[in-house]
Amino acid sequence: MADQSLLKRAVLTGAGAYLPEQILTNEDMAKRVDTSDEWIVERTGIRQRHFAAPHETAAYMGAEAGRQALEKAGLNPESLGAIIVATSTPDQAFPATAVRIQASLGAKKAFGFDLSAACSGFIYGLSVADAMLRAGQVKSVLVIGTEVFSRLLNFEDRTTCVLFGDGAGAVLLEARDVEQGGPGLLSTHLYADGSLGDILYVDCGTHDNRKPGHLVMHGREVFRHAVNLLAGAVNDALAENKLSADDIDLLVPHQANKRIIDGVGKKLGLPAERVVITVHKHANTSAASIPLALADAIQEGRAVPGKLLLLEALGGGLTWGSALLRL
Ligand code: COA
Repeated sequence: MADQSLLKRAVLTGAGAYLPEQILTNEDMAKRVDTSDEWIVERTGIRQRHFAAPHETAAYMGAEAGRQALEKAGLNPESLGAIIVATSTPDQAFPATAVRIQASLGAKKAFGFDLSAACSGFIYGLSVADAMLRAGQVKSVLVIGTEVFSRLLNFEDRTTCVLFGDGAGAVLLEARDVEQGGPGLLSTHLYADGSLGDILYVDCGTHDNRKPGHLVMHGREVFRHAVNLLAGAVNDALAENKLSADDIDLLVPHQANKRIIDGVGKKLGLPAERVVITVHKHANTSAASIPLALADAIQEGRAVPGKLLLLEALGGGLTWGSALLRL
């Protein structure tokens, strides 16, 4: 008979990352647009970004990160239940990037789909995977964030083109019966406000045939909303779990801008050593930024079994959200 005291949880059993080979420093960007290392570092904390080569598509990078996560978990791709890909830069409108990745991994029994929630996509993906795993629909889900934002950038617009980079990150979540206080996703909180859709968007789609599409952002407006909305999302996560900021071992935020990250860290009263920062080396990789930061923290030995992680993100939509995860 099943032990009634055990809880069914989505437990992280592996993580992976992929970054394109090509690195562009702020000095490299200053050769393309009228900007400077000083301006970019002071406003954003960004020092460099990776830009994808033609073969490094969202599906290619996502498959590489996903393969690593499976290997770390020791799960045979043929046993994988589902693949959720958070991306705003799919290779094609369809087939879904997730299905391309399924073929590349040889994950023959997995179903898969893409999820569009801009920079919050990874948190949205975790939330959907968590529900599927706890409901018993599947036993394992690969959640991947993969983006080639370099292909959306308008190099005539210096206020946006210096902010973004390419890459992919992945986590494998597996359903496990764990004791109270054991590992797994404790909660996810998702939010959206479509009335703010026009402060951060891509100016192409089936409604018009302008090509290529470009990312458009009213940076000050986004900044104005970001810290307060994110603080609300993390406070909801803490309140639901009857936790305080002191209980958080690591904040793993979406890496858009160091000033936004610092703003949330300060509201929580977290010291710098409990905040994961990768924006200086990756820039904003949208849905890929949290799994990339997580893989970085695992690699550095900061995110180890038992630690309590608070994840948060905000992006186009607006969409935003938070997740509490014990490793
Ligand atoms: N290099 C040099 N100067 C630049 C520049 C660049 N790359 N981009 C803009 N500037 C200039 C502007 O032209 C303006 O000059 P002016 O005063 O002579 O007109 C000045 O810098 C200030 O521009 P502004 O757009 O008001 O800058 P800002 O202080 O708001 O900083 C952002 C711009 C984008 C860094 C900031 O708004 C921001 O971080 N927003 C949040 C963006 C974000 O993280 N979004 C992602 C969420 S998923």
